[in-house]
Amino acid sequence: MGDIRKVLISDSVDPKCKSVLEAKGIEVTLNTKLSPAELVAEIPNYDGLIVRSATKVTAEVIKAGKNLKIIGRAGTGVDNIDIKAATECGVIVMNTPGGNTLSAAEHTCTLMVCLARQVPQAAASMREGRWDRKKYMGIELMGKTLGIIGLGRIGREVATRMQSFGVRTVGYDPIVPAEAAKEFDVEFFELNDLWPECDFITVHTPLIPQTRGLLGDETFAKCKKGVRVINCARGGIIDEAALLRALQSGQCAGAALDVFEQEPPQNTELVQHPNVIPVCHLGASTVEAQSRVAVEIAEQFVDFNEGKSLFGA
Ligand code: NAD
Ligand code: MLT
Repeated sequence: MGDIRKVLISDSVDPKCKSVLEAKGIEVTLNTKLSPAELVAEIPNYDGLIVRSATKVTAEVIKAGKNLKIIGRAGTGVDNIDIKAATECGVIVMNTPGGNTLSAAEHTCTLMVCLARQVPQAAASMREGRWDRKKYMGIELMGKTLGIIGLGRIGREVATRMQSFGVRTVGYDPIVPAEAAKEFDVEFFELNDLWPECDFITVHTPLIPQTRGLLGDETFAKCKKGVRVINCARGGIIDEAALLRALQSGQCAGAALDVFEQEPPQNTELVQHPNVIPVCHLGASTVEAQSRVAVEIAEQFVDFNEGKSLFGA
């Protein structure tokens, strides 16, 4: 049985999270304005901490949290939490990995369609008073090949949705066997063979040493000229400097980026490139996903107090 009585929510999480916790007698403070130093000063007052991605739960925060027993991430990625420090301090880390899958998948598909038709660029141009029908000639999706790297929750939802456009889906994942991929109509390719197949490539892996720079100078060179890429997973899986070079040479015809190596991004040349569709990390930003992850993380805290089995990171 856990003993969580006081919880700090330090990021903007749907109010349902607070309601679920309070209904179970847990005292909740919502403060999304804490500086890193203020968080370190405040954290000893709490048994539990709930964050999204803005709060950086560093080793300093975790070590200062003398009463901290549990950290909850209302979302999937836990890369803003120092898991090693949490483990060393005996602090449990939980996340809600399935709650925003559909939103992230829909967002990825939206970005792919936008890449094919340059809708954001055309809209921006019209707002500037232009009517540039020739400049925004697009391509059809029917018959194109989409490479999906990472065939987990989001990757496979992207596959089935894009198949409805007549897109051929190919993919790679080190732990998903070819037969399993076939069940959702993804042709399995080893990575080296996958690059030259694709008109579009989308990445849906965690950011780990094996995936950092997965798309870089060497791999862009193996792609079809004019490949279009989407990153709705984590900044750094596509090497931003290499991507800029590929865009400048025409090896890459377009990139839609929801996530960046640094957020907000520092690479302004990349963000300003006319063939880039930059988005401010909105993959999970839907009413439905935010409601789901807020309730799920709160229920996990309640389960912890009630001695039920735990789930997460
Ligand atoms: P998941 O764990 O269900 O799937 C990830 C897949 O990547 C796994 O099947 C894993 O085997 C595979 N993988 C690991 N290493 C690989 C490698 N070297 N090459 C190819 N595949 C590899 O995760 P998910 O829920 O599908 O999330 C995918 C990514 O999307 C995560 O990085 C997550 O943080 C991110 N995400 C972003 C948003 C957003 O707002 N943009 C929202 C939700 C999730
Ligand atoms: C996630 O990992 O869940 C995403 O980055 C979404 C988010 O919480 O913004």
